[in-house]
Amino acid sequence: MSKKHPFTGNVIGIDIGGTGIKGGIVEISSGEMLGSRFRIDTPSPSSPLAVAKVVKEIVDELMKRPEAPSKDSPIGITFPAIISHGVALSAANIDKSWIDADVDAIITKELGREVQVMNDADAAGLAEARYGAGKGVNGTVLVITLGTGIGSAFIHDGKLVPNAELGHLEIDGFDAESRASASARERDGLDWDEYAQRLQRYFSHVEFLFSPELFIIGGGISKRSEDYLPKLNLRTKIITAQLKNNAGIVGGALQAAVHFKLTK
Ligand code: BGC
Repeated sequence: MSKKHPFTGNVIGIDIGGTGIKGGIVEISSGEMLGSRFRIDTPSPSSPLAVAKVVKEIVDELMKRPEAPSKDSPIGITFPAIISHGVALSAANIDKSWIDADVDAIITKELGREVQVMNDADAAGLAEARYGAGKGVNGTVLVITLGTGIGSAFIHDGKLVPNAELGHLEIDGFDAESRASASARERDGLDWDEYAQRLQRYFSHVEFLFSPELFIIGGGISKRSEDYLPKLNLRTKIITAQLKNNAGIVGGALQAAVHFKLTK
């Protein structure tokens, strides 16, 4: 960050998903999103170049806004796959050509500015632990995002243990997300009772494995929680993400601010 463009307190977060790519400007001390978020459908095929171009389009649009951060401020990017040192190690709901691709390098090159890349569900978990439903909760908090796939963030005493892939637990012979993600509900035309049965199977298994203090549900479907949460029977308290579907954008921006030492 140069002296010419000091830190304004605002950071852009971009959440790359299997269905949509969303961005927003986040005020880092409160975790609030300033203004509306901007979304473009994920291109098909979702190849690295095509996705990087959409990310650039979103950043360009956000940079026109009055709340925009300075031109050389870093950007937080979330990605729907395992991310280790900026490299994608899986690609369940995005083009397979991302596997082993350096997401950090590809997007840095396209944007011409520094980025910090992390798994999308980890970003949502980080945001909930810092600003939302997991704030101040000790012990294990599992943030489970129900969307195109199932993402998970493992938080212990407020700290993230990255890349827990609990959407890919094998349950009853199936990859869990292929049965219990929000897109599986739509694909199979399930009503809420039927979908709740799948969620019950999933969450009771995860509960048995980890005995968490709290489950937080994120993803677009967290808006419809009254349709399925009351139907679940678990030992563990289960609530929806306070930042709703913006948790990824907020967590991505926060992680960039922490990584580049703009905040603690
Ligand atoms: C991926 C995760 C991702 C989740 C939500 C899963 O299929 O393996 O890395 O967090 O989808 O996008």
